[in-house]
Amino acid sequence: MLIFNKKSDLSAFLSPLIQQNKSIGFVPTMGALHKGHLSLLEKSLSENEITVMSIFVNPTQFNNSEDLDKYPRTLERDIQIMQEVSNTIIVYAPEVEDIYEGKTVSQSFDYDGLENQMEGKHRPGHFDGVGTIVKRLFEIVQPNKAYFGEKDFQQLQIVKKLVEKNNIPVAVIGCPIHREDSGLAMSSRNERLSETARKNAAIIYQILNSAKEIFATNSAEATVKWVENEFQKHPDFQLEYFEIADETTLLPVNTKEADKKYRGFIAIFIENIRLIDNISLN
Ligand code: PAF
Repeated sequence: MLIFNKKSDLSAFLSPLIQQNKSIGFVPTMGALHKGHLSLLEKSLSENEITVMSIFVNPTQFNNSEDLDKYPRTLERDIQIMQEVSNTIIVYAPEVEDIYEGKTVSQSFDYDGLENQMEGKHRPGHFDGVGTIVKRLFEIVQPNKAYFGEKDFQQLQIVKKLVEKNNIPVAVIGCPIHREDSGLAMSSRNERLSETARKNAAIIYQILNSAKEIFATNSAEATVKWVENEFQKHPDFQLEYFEIADETTLLPVNTKEADKKYRGFIAIFIENIRLIDNISLN
């Protein structure tokens, strides 16, 4: 398996392959790999001649320095895990300097309002940081296809918008959420939960599933209230938001319309660790 730390070395390796029109699949990650990441890798390996995975904890997308400091960094283990999947994967694991060249700041992006909802409201600047790193990585890797998990559904829609508005020739592929046996959405942040919290966090998906049933015969407002009440019964959890939004515009639902697709989105703290999840509602 080839591991590059410098974008110049990666570009020098990839450029003859790009000239030969080899198809390149790209899986950008922040490491601490889990089965969700591996499913993206496997999809890329099955659809492309070359697969590149990046491992980079991007500082500009963190609005909370403690969250950035505590984000798990497990490069050696990640490399071992990837090796077990395939030794043909090309890894790009840069330092901050290689990406930001002394200016660790975000570019500003207009995603037609997608950035003003949910995660955008609660994590100011987050999607400018995501847009900055994803655009930069796309310029370095020049993939044909890039794979993103639906756990970060708003991020997926934002990256699709980034590509559309900047005419970047990359097909952005969304991949289903992977869940632990308990139903908890797989996330690198789960590693920071105590065993008890990880077990208790199964309730998040249980409540999302019940919300889906309730939404089938009730308004969005009533469903949101129900979810908020449920979490009040569980003081270990601090609900940041539960919103029901249109899948495409990410705008909150006022009145249900038959031809629209809706999703419930949640952000919640347990043991001071912020988890997000979402569920398709129709
Ligand atoms: O989803 C992530 O892990 C990150 O937001 C991404 C897309 C790798 C950008 O840093």
